[in-house]
Amino acid sequence: MTRPFRERIAKAADRKKSPIVLALDPPANKRGLPGFAAKTIRAAEQHVCAIKMNFHLILPLSAAEISRTNRLAHSCGLQSIADIKLNDIENTNGVVVDHLAKMGFDAVIANPFIGSGGMEALVKKAHGIGLGVIALVYMSHPGATEGFGLEVSGKGLYRAFLERATNAGADGIVVGATQQDILREVSGLLPVYSPGVGTQGGDAEQAIKNGSDYLIIGRSIVEARQPGKAAKEFKDRLPVRK
Ligand code: XMP
Repeated sequence: MTRPFRERIAKAADRKKSPIVLALDPPANKRGLPGFAAKTIRAAEQHVCAIKMNFHLILPLSAAEISRTNRLAHSCGLQSIADIKLNDIENTNGVVVDHLAKMGFDAVIANPFIGSGGMEALVKKAHGIGLGVIALVYMSHPGATEGFGLEVSGKGLYRAFLERATNAGADGIVVGATQQDILREVSGLLPVYSPGVGTQGGDAEQAIKNGSDYLIIGRSIVEARQPGKAAKEFKDRLPVRK
C-alpha cells in the first residue's frame, strides 16, 4: 500500500534535507521542453524534494513526455505536483485527477472556490488513487487580496478556504511567501507550501520562520546560469530541517 502524499513528500524533504519544490517553468518560447525538464531536474535534484509542473509544461508536452518527466523525478527520489489550480465540477475534477495519476503525478493543486462539497469529493477521489490535494488559501501575487482577501460573512475568504481544506482532509495549503502576516496566522494546521520566493520578492528564510513547510521556487533557479548551484544556495540559507 502506497503511503499518503503528505508522508511521501515529508520523507523526500528529509532525505534531500530540503523543503524546496522546484517549479519547472520554462521561459516563453523555450524550445526542447522535454530536454529542458530533464536537464533541470538532473541539475537540481540533490537540493529539492519535489518538482511542480504548471501549464508551461502540461499544455505543450504529450502525456508520454509528462510521464517520462515524472518517472525521472521519481527515480531521483522526488515527488511531482501538478499546479493546475483545479476549479471545476465534481465529475470533471474526477476525470482530471485520473489523467494526472496515470501520468505519474503525486499531487494536484486545487481551488477551494469549488465549495466544501466539491473539495470533499475531490480529496476523497484523489486519495483513492494515491494522489494528494493541496488547496489554495492565499496566492502570492499582488492582486491576491482582491480575491482571497475579500471579506465574506465577516471574515476573509482565505479563512473559509482554510476551513474547507482542513475539513476535506487536504494534504496541504498554498500561502504565498509574499503574505507573511497570513502565513503567521494560518500555519500549523496543514503543511504550508509557499510560492513567491525570489523573483516575486518573498523572503525564503522569513517564510520558513513564519510557518511555511515547503517553498515553491521557479525562475530564480530555473533561469539561473547554473540551476543546481542556485538551488543549493537557496537550500543552504534555510534553517536545517528537523
Ligand atoms: P516563481 O518563478 O515566481 O514561480 O518562483 C512560482 C511558481 O508557482 C506558481 N505560483 C503559484 N501557484 N499558488 C499556486 O498554486 C500561488 O499562489 C502561486 N503563486 C505562484 C507560479 O505559477 C509558478 O509556477
